[in-house]
Amino acid sequence: MACNNDCANCKEKCDIKDLRENPNKYSSIKKVIGVVSGKGGVGKSLVTSLLATGLRRDGFEIGILDADITGPSIPKIFNVSGEVLGNEYGLLPSEAKSGIKIMSSNLLLPNETDPVVWRGPIIAGLVRQFWTDVIWKDVDYLLVDMPPGTGDVPLTVFQSIGVDGIIIVTSPQELVSMIVQKAVNMAKMMNIPVLGIVENMSYVECPNCKDKIYAFGDSHVDEVAGLYDIDTVSKLPINPDVARLCDKGSIEEVDINYIVNNLGNLLEKLETLPLAINNICVPVNDGILSSLEDADTLIIYQTIRQMVIKEVYKIVDNLDLDARLDLLKPLKANVILSSDGAKYDGFNCHKVSGEVYDAVIEYLTRKPEKKPKVLKRENVVKDK
Ligand SMILES: Nc1ncnc2c1ncn2[C@@H]1O[C@H](COP(=O)(O)OP(=O)(O)OP(=O)(O)O)[C@@H](O)[C@H]1O
Ligand SMILES: [Mg+2]
Repeated sequence: MACNNDCANCKEKCDIKDLRENPNKYSSIKKVIGVVSGKGGVGKSLVTSLLATGLRRDGFEIGILDADITGPSIPKIFNVSGEVLGNEYGLLPSEAKSGIKIMSSNLLLPNETDPVVWRGPIIAGLVRQFWTDVIWKDVDYLLVDMPPGTGDVPLTVFQSIGVDGIIIVTSPQELVSMIVQKAVNMAKMMNIPVLGIVENMSYVECPNCKDKIYAFGDSHVDEVAGLYDIDTVSKLPINPDVARLCDKGSIEEVDINYIVNNLGNLLEKLETLPLAINNICVPVNDGILSSLEDADTLIIYQTIRQMVIKEVYKIVDNLDLDARLDLLKPLKANVILSSDGAKYDGFNCHKVSGEVYDAVIEYLTRKPEKKPKVLKRENVVKDK
């Protein structure tokens, strides 16, 4: 059967499926970071919460999508409860004290202690809905607290949400096993960068002499990170005060030094993560989409992920084609959407039609193009 690029409704087995979905149209999310672990109980939710708190204190708008549907702990750590409100446009996340937005299955249950007894596909579907149906509004970082392991739900998150990178949380015991490597390999298969690795419960600091006690033996996190070219490694000590704050639902009151001293390098990595910026040039004539040659004005849309954040207008009716192309370079335009789709060196050129703004949005929310299949070396025909 010929490919119609409608992966969601296609039953063919192929390795180019892309099931990414658009977030709710009232959400504008700049970066999505997945927090994963090989197994449960290693401190994934705590690390998610500390990173959220650290980023929030640095002035960012933060959302936490609790994808751990059967073991949700984010609402408790931030002391949010109660019914989630919704309207015809979607569901509204709850807000913690410091303004961190939270969506979790626990907020949808009549009683907090009700168990979630749904099967895998339903659970995965709910996670997808937290992306498509929740009105996150403006969020700089959406942190996704994944369920442990490399099963169905993490796979759905990777496939349906455009994750910009993942952070792996481990414990010292876990590092000597294959579990971490499985998480790294999963990210690799999905083409998602591993931004950092956190060894949680790495050591305990003696309250008197400040010596570090490695209760679980020597740390191996640096070796593992080296093995996989992961350049950001954090070691988070066991801290009873932090555990207490989690239990009380007051994680936002954590001593900021605990975050900065132990996760500071990871925060810096996240805060300097380059945004997927496109500067899209659309040539128009009399306000109507045209070719680059026929245009009287070039509109340059500066976009981040799926949002237009700035529009610049350049009048070009007295410029020849070369001068028009030269004008685009300092504006860092990398895409040209025109009525004829003419190709120009150094630009990603596409033919579009209809209203200018609609064409830009359609381009930004398009499904990624099919990637060419990579041939294995032995299958490459050599030209003699
Ligand atoms: N560095 C730490 N210092 C003190 N307590 C910690 C630390 N890390 C985790 N804990 C405590 O250990 C428990 C488990 O941590 P957490 O819930 O973050 O793990 P998890 O990986 O999200 O678990 P699950 O797989 O069940 O979702 C929590 O009570 C948490 O407060
Ligand atoms: Mg958890």
